[in-house]
Amino acid sequence: MRSKIVAGNWKMNLTFEKADELLYQIGEQLEKGVPQDVELIVCPPSVYLELATDFAQEVEFKVGSQNVSQYSKGAYTGEISAEMLSSIDVDYCIVGHSERRKYFKETSKELSLKVEQLLEYGIQPIFCVGELLEERESGKHFDVLKSQLSEGLFNLSESEFSNIVVAYEPVWAIGTGKTASPEQAQEVHAFLRGLITEKYGKELADETTILYGGSCNAQNAKELFAQNDVDGGLIGGASLKPIDFIEIAKSF
Ligand code: 13P
Repeated sequence: MRSKIVAGNWKMNLTFEKADELLYQIGEQLEKGVPQDVELIVCPPSVYLELATDFAQEVEFKVGSQNVSQYSKGAYTGEISAEMLSSIDVDYCIVGHSERRKYFKETSKELSLKVEQLLEYGIQPIFCVGELLEERESGKHFDVLKSQLSEGLFNLSESEFSNIVVAYEPVWAIGTGKTASPEQAQEVHAFLRGLITEKYGKELADETTILYGGSCNAQNAKELFAQNDVDGGLIGGASLKPIDFIEIAKSF
């Protein structure tokens, strides 16, 4: 179902105490009111996931993991399975973030296995795609995005794909303060929706939620979210500031 979503990716930040405080503060801000039709997702580091899902029993937000293992269980030291995430009521999981592609050399094949694991346990993948600055400057960004989307997801059946949230995160905009313009975001989102239409048909494409990520903040969210094909945001830095995070959720 196409939804308005604002998801906070905390990345590798905060101690336990700070994480607890931030969850509490998000709850406080939420009490002041966020539009009913906006889904808020918090994606803390995995050690704080259970803390977050406990909070989520009282407070209106969903919880997402930042990663999952491509394997189902067994001798994979340090890994966390989709079944484990599901056993602590995690709702979403980010897959294919550019930081995982870059620093952990995650390949499209691995990402597609992660997506399969998540779907098997009823967790919705937030699947990230995004081009590097040099790819945009050399005009290759549409080809790159097409490969990332099709290699990661287009092995799925229609009913499986209906559980996917897509996030467009241009790598040059992540943590740089350099946001894609609303026109650039709209152009890519419409392109991605077009690829989904070609593969799965217009009805499913129209129902797919596509988020924008990359220096999205309380000042620029409104203009970005006003674009026809931008259904919300995947927020990094600004999601660590409770007032800003909730302000972004009010920007539709
Ligand atoms: P920033 O909002 O800090 O640019 O990060 C975006 C991001 O990578 C979210 O996943």
